[in-house]
Amino acid sequence: MSEPTTPSRDDVTSPPPPTRSGVEPDSGDTRARQVHLDAAADAVLRADDLTAGYLPGVNILNGADLYCRPGELVGIIGPNGAGKSTLLKALFGLVRIHSGKVLLEGQEITNQRADVLVARGIGFVPQSDNVFPSLTIEENLEMGTYQAPKRFSERFDFVAGLFPALRDRRKQRAGSLSGGERQMVAMGRALMMEPSVLLLDEPSAGLSPVMQDEVFVQTRKINQAGVSVVMVEQNAKRCLQICDRGYVLDQGRNAYTATGRELINDPKVVELYLGTLGKAG
Ligand SMILES: Nc1ncnc2c1ncn2[C@@H]1O[C@H](COP(=O)(O)OP(=O)(O)OP(=O)(O)O)[C@@H](O)[C@H]1O
Ligand SMILES: [Mg+2]
Repeated sequence: MSEPTTPSRDDVTSPPPPTRSGVEPDSGDTRARQVHLDAAADAVLRADDLTAGYLPGVNILNGADLYCRPGELVGIIGPNGAGKSTLLKALFGLVRIHSGKVLLEGQEITNQRADVLVARGIGFVPQSDNVFPSLTIEENLEMGTYQAPKRFSERFDFVAGLFPALRDRRKQRAGSLSGGERQMVAMGRALMMEPSVLLLDEPSAGLSPVMQDEVFVQTRKINQAGVSVVMVEQNAKRCLQICDRGYVLDQGRNAYTATGRELINDPKVVELYLGTLGKAG
């Protein structure tokens, strides 16, 4: 970041993200935001009005709200640099939250350390470098339970139940796997501590179209097994097709939020965010 001062929604040079009343709670729209907050009451994970960034005085998130209710699959889309990864990292304690708060099952977890958050029930799969290539599949999954090694075999059975290939190939080194297979290992590792919510950052990035489809199928499978999921995706159309609700993040705050189906059929969202991104799906 090269900006010398904190960008806010009042001083950014480009126009703020558009809003459409009734569907999306632009963070400046108090009433719509209240509706959004009310719906977040029983959320497994919720973030209210987050500002966060990498450098003191430079915010990347500028008042982002998000919630995920038990059993939901929530998608986050938006342009490059919108702050999608930053939002996931802030939820997982990897980026400093300057204001606002994060709650996990009603308990405040703002700025807690990632290892504490894993123990409390958040799983996170970063976009890249998300497996240990020199370790076997089994060893990668063991890393997932390093805080509770006695749980390994029970959790391994759960993960292998979802992804049988991981059991069949447990002695294979992760570095020798295809991108799609590595993604399966990374998701499996994050599931080893039985998270109540799983955060996925662009799980389909860099994969062939066939493997991208496979990752979306796997993500649904995880969700259908009862794990709440918050997924960031470049493959915006595909993401909105499978998610219960979606958020369009722009300039570090919510531009739109609605069900996946509503967003995909919203002409403004299509024009502004799916026109080119959507073609990927
Ligand atoms: N480690 C970092 N240090 C400083 N600035 C960073 C860092 N990581 C990201 N940024 C900046 O934060 C802003 C948002 O980045 P972020 O990675 O959250 O966007 P994104 O929406 O995930 O984009 P993409 O679609 O490209 O993955 C960008 O301006 C980026 O340059
Ligand atoms: Mg990103």
